[in-house]
Amino acid sequence: MASLPRAYFNEESSADVVAGQNVNAKDARLRAIMDSIIRHLHACIKDVEPTPQEWLQAIQFLTETGHMCDDWRQEFILLSDVLGVSMLVDAINARRPKGATENTVLGPFHIDAAPEYPMGTNICLDAKGDDLVVHGCVRSIDGRPLTDVKMDVWQANDDGFYDIQQKGIQPAFNLRGVFRTGEEGHYWFKAVRPKHYAIPDDGPVGRLLENLGRHPWRPAHLHFILSKEGYETVTTHIFDPDDPYIGNDAVFGVKESLLGHFQKIDAEDKRVDMGFDGTFYWDLEFDFRMAPQK
Ligand code: BEZ
Ligand code: FE
Repeated sequence: MASLPRAYFNEESSADVVAGQNVNAKDARLRAIMDSIIRHLHACIKDVEPTPQEWLQAIQFLTETGHMCDDWRQEFILLSDVLGVSMLVDAINARRPKGATENTVLGPFHIDAAPEYPMGTNICLDAKGDDLVVHGCVRSIDGRPLTDVKMDVWQANDDGFYDIQQKGIQPAFNLRGVFRTGEEGHYWFKAVRPKHYAIPDDGPVGRLLENLGRHPWRPAHLHFILSKEGYETVTTHIFDPDDPYIGNDAVFGVKESLLGHFQKIDAEDKRVDMGFDGTFYWDLEFDFRMAPQK
């Protein structure tokens, strides 16, 4: 064990003195991370010079954030999302070659147990919203079609809620399902055109947004996780480019390459072919490209 440096704490030396106590850390990575956190935190405090009341308020905010968490609600992830940290961690860890489909934020509403369906299944179980057909191909970045890609899909319903936010109101597994790409990497399924919705804003993170003059809205999107052995898993969305919040997503998830194109189809023969009753449906064609695992 290295002997601890003898050091007296003062305003100038604060970060060095605290970080210096970690010389015997059991894990070098933990030490490096804590060293950085200590230095940035002390620099922030020196920059802001909080009063004791303000510091207590910050601690109370974090305490409430923790109290808000349970098996279904993770307020700390939400905090990381609205501060752009979730997207930054993802950007660092999902650097992909040019042409590969980009990742975006996972969000808190994915579940592992969604049912697997044959291609073409309608995942909308509550009969609300505008009919939508989503289709396209999954290819490798060199253009080869990829068959048997597991495609896990989920979206909010027409009222802007995921099924797990409305247990007993929405049917279980509403608007979620797992598909596998077929020949030529093709996929297709039926759903509803998504709408923008507010992230859970009834807790401390919502109050923070309100106090910062920020809105809690996410532009309309469908979620996807694409996985296949030998390829990097893609956790992503397709966004509606016409959504009013497309330029200022509350969690910074929008990327230009993930904008879809929703085409209105009203031809009767096509509606009948698709088995839809309404006077129109939306068609969304989107191709994905997966990068080989590094
Ligand atoms: C979502 O898209 O489901 C989501 C992402 C981040 C925070 C809340 C919701
Ligand atoms: Fe979402």
